[in-house]
Amino acid sequence: MTSQTIGAAASGTWELGDLRINRIGFGAMRLPQTGEALVADAVPRDREQAIGVLRRAVELGVNHIDTAAFYFSPLRSANELINRALAPYPDDLVITTKVGPGRAPSGRWLPHATPEQLRGQVEENLRQLGRDHLDVVNLRIVGTDSIAERFGALAGLRDAGLIRHLGISNVTPEHLAEARAIAPVVCVQNQYGIGVRPDHDEFVRACGELGVAYVPFYAIAGTGRQAGASGAESDEVLAVARAHGASAAQVRLAWTLHRGPHVLAIPGTGSPDHLVANVAAGALRLSEEELASLDSFHRRGA
Ligand SMILES: NC(=O)c1ccc[n+]([C@@H]2O[C@H](COP(=O)([O-])OP(=O)(O)OC[C@H]3O[C@@H](n4cnc5c(N)ncnc54)[C@H](OP(=O)(O)O)[C@@H]3O)[C@@H](O)[C@H]2O)c1
Repeated sequence: MTSQTIGAAASGTWELGDLRINRIGFGAMRLPQTGEALVADAVPRDREQAIGVLRRAVELGVNHIDTAAFYFSPLRSANELINRALAPYPDDLVITTKVGPGRAPSGRWLPHATPEQLRGQVEENLRQLGRDHLDVVNLRIVGTDSIAERFGALAGLRDAGLIRHLGISNVTPEHLAEARAIAPVVCVQNQYGIGVRPDHDEFVRACGELGVAYVPFYAIAGTGRQAGASGAESDEVLAVARAHGASAAQVRLAWTLHRGPHVLAIPGTGSPDHLVANVAAGALRLSEEELASLDSFHRRGA
């Protein structure tokens, strides 16, 4: 597929609460370093390269960027890069961040935030991004415990005007029901992709029925997770890619977008060429036969 001139608007739009965004967005986790993310000895990425990718993303129409204060390497912070590259921010730019996990300045992981500590994490994001309120904040959790106290604490910060909309991440349908009883939830951000978590298909569909955006992470990286894409690919994905003159990564993104109009993409990359390709994937339309073939691989699992 020709990718040079395709903008993010080709993917269609979705409303996160009252914030309209293009369905193809950008994940900032890859920007602070080259190679594996979220490790203490990560190699910092060239600052100008990271800034260039962010500015190009916005030029291409990306208006939804996912980030976190804990996305940093020894010398780079995703939030600081976003601030440096994009402030003063375009009016239509929606920055989604996440709280819960935390890392010490050394890069070592800290215990997840208590309800009382969440305000400090929200304020840290406000400082780094240079904003007075955060557009969307996801409560990122681990495990199956109740999120009522932590989500309730964020709902209080929303009422106080520090946060516009709330989401939840790494969660089950039970968590979503629990959160929605406390405050509106605009998005669920979970690991999901072709061949990964076919058991979440029903949850993805149910979110659509509730008008909640489903935002998969690692849609390209898949089982490579924070280490990144391995390059290994299934025959089904490769066949569809060949038919469209597209890359496997583009087919992976297009497949997620075909799961429903409420599914958003936040592909991460430090490569300007991959950025252009990822945005262009929003224009890739897959046939029923292609989707059936990809679905059979998905259900088989990676
Ligand atoms: N809520 C959570 O718990 C959670 C967890 C993880 C991530 N996230 C969010 O989700 C976002 C997406 O995850 P991710 O950054 O891992 O993105 P991803 O899109 O799943 O995969 C990124 C990996 O794929 C490569 N890649 C990207 N575009 C490519 C292309 N067109 N062709 C070939 N390879 C390509 C990247 O390397 P290159 O840099 O070389 O392109 C990198 O190795 C993150 O940035 C972060 O914002 C959330």
